[in-house]
Amino acid sequence: MPRSCPFDLSSQYAELRAEQPITQVRLATGRVAWLVTRHEDVRRLFMDPNLSANGAHPEFPALAPRKRSFDEQSKGFLPWMDPPEHTTYRRMVINEFTVRRIRAMRPRIQQIVDDCITRMLAGPRPVDLVQALSLPVPSLTICDLMGVPYEDLDHIQRHAVIMVSRTHAAQERAAALRELRTYLGDLLHAKAKAPQDDLLSRLVVKHRAAGRDDHAHLTGLALLILVGGYESTASTISLGTVALLENPEQLAALRADPALGPRAVEELLRYFSVADNVTSRIALADVTVGDITIRAGEGVLLSNAAANRDERVFANPERLDVHQDARSHVAFGYGIHQCLGQNLARLELEIVFTTLFDRVPDLRLAVPLDDLPFKNDAIMFGIHEVPVTW
Ligand code: HEM
Repeated sequence: MPRSCPFDLSSQYAELRAEQPITQVRLATGRVAWLVTRHEDVRRLFMDPNLSANGAHPEFPALAPRKRSFDEQSKGFLPWMDPPEHTTYRRMVINEFTVRRIRAMRPRIQQIVDDCITRMLAGPRPVDLVQALSLPVPSLTICDLMGVPYEDLDHIQRHAVIMVSRTHAAQERAAALRELRTYLGDLLHAKAKAPQDDLLSRLVVKHRAAGRDDHAHLTGLALLILVGGYESTASTISLGTVALLENPEQLAALRADPALGPRAVEELLRYFSVADNVTSRIALADVTVGDITIRAGEGVLLSNAAANRDERVFANPERLDVHQDARSHVAFGYGIHQCLGQNLARLELEIVFTTLFDRVPDLRLAVPLDDLPFKNDAIMFGIHEVPVTW
């Protein structure tokens, strides 16, 4: 159900939360699945071991038609794995994303943000914030961390956009996925020959030391970190900037007290929940919640966006309020698949928002809000283009 106004979820979600918090819906593929909209139920089901994340399962509730070859190429996709395989692969990379490790990246991320803003200020106005800031910050940061050459970014982004689209034909999406796997597979071979001080090299070395020989899995794991690493963060940067410009009293509160930064970031993550479409599951055994029984073989959509607007948990959930304590949001999911890159995303968002409004205090939209092309056609909610001036 597309968002409206433009930041609000369809009002049907609030109606469902009130009257039918777990209900059956028909997907674009024609399949029927259960939609879960209350915070308590969503959190509970994220933790249920009888719900599998295996996206290649023939009954999995995919949101867009998929080619069989797409599923076959999903080897190593961490979000699609179940334990014990998931535990093994998550352990291989979890150390890269600890709070301490990510905190050490602050100076480098600050430098990336500063450089992007300096370049933007030196160029013509208006400028598209997506190309000037929202995309480069997370993509350069993730390239740095993983050891992916900057000059390959265009190639990666061109294919990643198609891979996560809901409107490109299934065949095109499968071809884009194949291309990205080939690229990363080759890069991993090169890292294996000459390891450097980066995530991909450490991953290859660890993998080899563990005596594993599944290059396809390693490639899929690397691909998910790379693509998961920038699309969602970029969308939250664009949407967050627009929302703060449209809510000047919220922006003024943040500028008056930069210590509010981390709280504002949690609130923006809650408010937008850009990755609402990635948290689907398939029941492997019957699961009962209240008076509803989800049968083995049925699909389940855990709507983190609907849960994040639950009035039982958040005061005035439809309003953006940078003072709100939004830490219990589920924008990063919950349970064993909770976002691997959440500490990195939080740090990037905090640095971007505090630096951008400090250095460009008179930043404003160069077009009316209603003219912005919102992305309702991709896996991540976002905006294609945000023309700004100052
Ligand atoms: C605003 C930014 C972000 C949002 C909203 C977001 C959202 C999510 C959500 C909802 C999940 C759970 C999927 C599920 O339960 O099926 C997830 C998982 C994941 N995210 Fe993020 N993410 C963000 C940034 C990042 C970044 C920066 C990275 C990498 C550096 C990343 C890498 C991953 C990976 C690898 C997983 C799979 C974890 C697993 O299955 O164990 N994400 N993310």
